[in-house]
Amino acid sequence: MLSPHAPPCPDFTIVPTSGGLGADIYGIDVTKPLSQVKFKNLKRALLDYQVLFIRDQSLEPDTFLKFGKRWGGIHFYPYMKGLEGYPEIFEVIKNPGEDRTFGNRWHSDQMYSEKPCKFTILYARELPRIGGDTLFTNLYAAYEALSPGMKKLAGRLRTYNNGDNTKRYGGKSRDNWYAEKGMGGKLHRPKARTDVVGIHPLIRTHPDTRRKALYIGDQTERFDGMSETESQPLYDFFMKHVSKDTFTCRLKWQPGTLAIWDNRCVSHYAISDYPKERRVMHRITIKDAVKPY
Ligand code: SIN
Repeated sequence: MLSPHAPPCPDFTIVPTSGGLGADIYGIDVTKPLSQVKFKNLKRALLDYQVLFIRDQSLEPDTFLKFGKRWGGIHFYPYMKGLEGYPEIFEVIKNPGEDRTFGNRWHSDQMYSEKPCKFTILYARELPRIGGDTLFTNLYAAYEALSPGMKKLAGRLRTYNNGDNTKRYGGKSRDNWYAEKGMGGKLHRPKARTDVVGIHPLIRTHPDTRRKALYIGDQTERFDGMSETESQPLYDFFMKHVSKDTFTCRLKWQPGTLAIWDNRCVSHYAISDYPKERRVMHRITIKDAVKPY
């Protein structure tokens, strides 16, 4: 399923993770300045493998941010404040006893934006002793596995994606729900929050690879022009389809692991299996210049 064009790379070692997608990268220290060529090869590897895992990095917010900015401008997460002094870095944190696990559903990041972020860079700072893995799935493979008839139908659909979709939070607004879960202090409430609804083609074309991907996630409320009831059966079909095990890989984090994924062709899911432990990740999302098409 990986791109047949993935070349061997002279700058670092690439070890594919699964037949679905993903690769471990060895021999790179992102705190050191990466030459233009090395960075270009890293970007090439991301296009080929869709999600990269760079192990054993030692990053503080300033070095993390410096590396992040090489990938493009920051796409600010519209719901929560970033780190003190580093508003570009969003802390994904779960403390013992909390029942909410951020990202515990299949999704591509900030899909509800008009121009969703293209890359996410996530860095593991504190991990549970067991668990807290993240699953990734290949949305190209999901598209390619559809029958010709379903591809045709899917090609005519647009998704209505809503960051304030109350279905996801037990009928509550996201703000109320976050506040109830003890995250109120970090809530970010811009006066006019405008960028939380995005209508996108269900089948999108990746601007760099020109491959088609089945772009759907838990932020999808319904199909554009259809009611939620009408949309539900098809939505359930596509969501089950994208999470088929042969399209996926699983990341077992270690402290210092840095993951970079391409939201234009990848969906991910944070596993919630460490109720009594703490997990702390630092996240940067990179904005895209174009709307999905
Ligand atoms: C996310 O959904 O961006 C976070 C994933 C994770 O914490 O593993």
